[in-house]
Amino acid sequence: MTLDESSRQVAAQRGIFRRKPIEADADSGLERSIGLWQLTAIGLGAIIGAGIFALAGPVAKTDAGPAVTVSFLIAGVASACAALSYAEFGGLIPAAGSAYTYGYAVLGESVGWFIGWDLLLEYTAIVAVVAIGVSQYITFLADAVGLDLPTWMLGAPGTGEGHRIDLFAVLLCLGVAWLLNRGIRTSTRIETMLVGVKIAIVLAVIVVGAFFVDTDNLTPYFPYGLSGAATGAATVFFAVFGYDAMSTAAEESKEAERNLPKAIILSLAIAMVLYLLAATVLTGMVPFADLSATAAYSEAFASVGLGGFSKVVAVGAIVGIVTVLFSFTLGASRVWFAISRDGLLPAWFAKTNDHHSPSRPVWIVGIVSAGIAGFVSIGDAAELTNIGILLAFVVVSAAVIVLRYRSPDLPRTFRTPLMPFTPLLGIAFSLWLVTKLQPETWVRFAVWFLLGVVIYAAYGYRHSKLGRGVAVQTKDTA
Ligand code: ALA
Repeated sequence: MTLDESSRQVAAQRGIFRRKPIEADADSGLERSIGLWQLTAIGLGAIIGAGIFALAGPVAKTDAGPAVTVSFLIAGVASACAALSYAEFGGLIPAAGSAYTYGYAVLGESVGWFIGWDLLLEYTAIVAVVAIGVSQYITFLADAVGLDLPTWMLGAPGTGEGHRIDLFAVLLCLGVAWLLNRGIRTSTRIETMLVGVKIAIVLAVIVVGAFFVDTDNLTPYFPYGLSGAATGAATVFFAVFGYDAMSTAAEESKEAERNLPKAIILSLAIAMVLYLLAATVLTGMVPFADLSATAAYSEAFASVGLGGFSKVVAVGAIVGIVTVLFSFTLGASRVWFAISRDGLLPAWFAKTNDHHSPSRPVWIVGIVSAGIAGFVSIGDAAELTNIGILLAFVVVSAAVIVLRYRSPDLPRTFRTPLMPFTPLLGIAFSLWLVTKLQPETWVRFAVWFLLGVVIYAAYGYRHSKLGRGVAVQTKDTA
């Protein structure tokens, strides 16, 4: 029996648990042009954004007080456990698709499909949430410089008097899709520049803010107790993911086996250091009860008499949050690309354009996120986001344990330390955070999941390349 015949048989026998080969496709149509620092920039682009600029303030004010820094630390440790698993997979399976691809290769097709389908919704919703966030800052700035914008374009229906559409948010989603379709080289160059601006602004906030820290504002440190800090962690969890979206660009990365694990760990580590310092400065500058629930950093500087600098911070926040849009549009389109390439969705979606971009998924993600961003309130859109990321973390952490014991000798460029304790902690923490989500989130998620089951049963299972025997021998044939 040839290798091909044998892998075809194995695939057919396993049915919905058939597993994808671990190697990346040789000629994917994508372009390998991203180096370590650009990859790290994409990671930082996706991690640092609305979480620190928009959530640190309200969480300090109502949940944690100055201990919001501890909330960031708890969320960061939890995310780091999952990040180490992503790093191991990033080095082992440097293929587009992130958690979808890892789940498919280790736990089987149905698990991979479920996670991929789930990420499509999550990433698209994140793009919408973040676009609405940026739009609010733009409106704030326009107001600050005396521009009188027509009310109809300032928000989704129901979010304010006369609001018909959040036009800025719509334009942002479409603009980022257009940029991504100019090719990964052009868009990562712009992304790297914007990330540089974002980091500079966060550093400036830390350095300038440090001069205005009054230690009296930091006592009591736990005004809402330790449980307040833990509740805050569930919210600021939004701030500590994003490297997962970066890992979807694996097939566009040079020396991905080495660079991906490094970029995942570097980007989360840099973000965490900045978060801990920036959160300490914020709560040291203003008594936590007086913090603004919207533009906390800008308001904090305005309150100490630095009105001009507060506008610079607002511009930095806009730039910073736009980079999150870029990374998650990239993430959603690459997951879609990977699913379609595997035959679980029509191959029509996997075609790349002259700039090597899978333009069809990019436009669909751009248009759908624009639709959500234009007409849905930020709160409703935000509810959709965390659940899928957490479930992806669970699947990736479980998969890393399974693969380590099933195929211990695979050539891993990075190994998750303290196995299986680290991924188990990642799983436990993610499940705990899932229990903190609203019941409506579960209902919406269940509807999306059922739709996914129907599409897989009606289309994906039968058209799967692996199922049809269009597969190669795997490194992991056990
Ligand atoms: N981590 C990203 C942010 O904070 C999603 O905006």
